Amino acid sequence: MKTYKIAVIPGDGIGPEVLEAGVNVMKVISELDGRFRFDFTFFPWGCEYYLKHGKMLADDGMQTLKKFDAIYLGAVGAPSVPDHISLWDLLLRIRKEFNQYVNLRPITLLEESLSPIKGKGMKEIDMLIIRENSEGEYAGAGDRLFKGTKEEVALQTGVFSRKGTERIIRYAFEEAKKKGKSLTSISKANALNYSMVFWDEVFEEVKQDYPEVPTYSYLVDAAAMFMVKQPERFEIVVTSNLFGDILTDLGAALSGGLGLAAGANINPEKEFPSMFEPIHGSAPDIAGKGIANPLAAIWSVSQMLDFFDYEDTGKIVLESIQNVLKEREFLTPDMGGDATTSQVAERIIKRLIQYYN
Ligand code: NAD
Ligand code: IPM
Ligand code: MN
Repeated sequence: MKTYKIAVIPGDGIGPEVLEAGVNVMKVISELDGRFRFDFTFFPWGCEYYLKHGKMLADDGMQTLKKFDAIYLGAVGAPSVPDHISLWDLLLRIRKEFNQYVNLRPITLLEESLSPIKGKGMKEIDMLIIRENSEGEYAGAGDRLFKGTKEEVALQTGVFSRKGTERIIRYAFEEAKKKGKSLTSISKANALNYSMVFWDEVFEEVKQDYPEVPTYSYLVDAAAMFMVKQPERFEIVVTSNLFGDILTDLGAALSGGLGLAAGANINPEKEFPSMFEPIHGSAPDIAGKGIANPLAAIWSVSQMLDFFDYEDTGKIVLESIQNVLKEREFLTPDMGGDATTSQVAERIIKRLIQYYN
């Protein structure tokens, strides 16, 4: 039987709460499926670790992680540590150093009644946002000049390389081709006169290799409007790092909320482990109460199963989420229910067991 080595980084705030749920689901699904098992190793890295040791992860942390088949991450960030330190030293570091340049964020309404938009339901809200995950506005290039003076200047430079831009756009075309769907590029060339003009040019170039894929191209401001007014316009979407970050929180709001939205950080070449996580943060406002919604973390388990080529099993996990949403009995407060994190997870597990028996 195939064993997958999983590095678990619960992180901060609600991270450990939702990952406990996710790990329990992983244990059960591997037993039920019978073709594979998971070997978990937990790492205590995050803001508490930082406060104790002055660093977000161990010195040999990246070397250690490299040996795993995948990373399962909860959330990073706490009020006690500046966000740009905690996120840059852990989450963004992993995405960048492990060349996880594809960020797959499905925005799929799993249950009709969860739509916040009148007249738009499961048929209309079903898209996959493919976010560039390694450079762009998140390149980390910049400076602070004349610090603390009246002349102070902050520079934050976007970096769009040909390699980085072309590979994400090509990945998105391949995905659209495979699924027989349209591809929409979202950029902002009217204002970002270097980077986004370049993005649009590369999109046009790569498009020539995929005559069978219908394409659209929108400015990001209009795209945000269309996502709400006419979400059916979008099937597969490709966009830059920052635009993808913002649009996927909007997308989460279209499809049941942040507690439900999952993301996979993929290194397609498999030279490094890929990382699976809910897209939400550490939610300090509800941390420690046992009421965080674990469904996003569980959806990312489904993405991990897809990545390991058990798409059939990934689909079963997704269907169990769908069933629990449909029955509406075991939902956390963010979805209007009064269930706890572990009650939701137990219900998912019960549904999975029912499915296999
Ligand atoms: P957040 O996603 O943590 O929370 C936004 C709102 O959504 C809060 O009201 C929160 O209670 C709610 N929410 C989020 N996830 C939920 C869940 N699973 N169940 C129920 N409600 C949920 O975003 P924020 O408040 O802007 O950021 C808090 C911290 O998290 C910051 O330090 C930020 O940098 C960090 N952050 C980390 C990640 C990550 O690790 N991937 C992502 C986003 C933000
Ligand atoms: C996300 C988060 C991160 C991002 C932050 C925490 C750096 O918001 O995964 O969506 O901007 O990518
Ligand atoms: Mn985000």
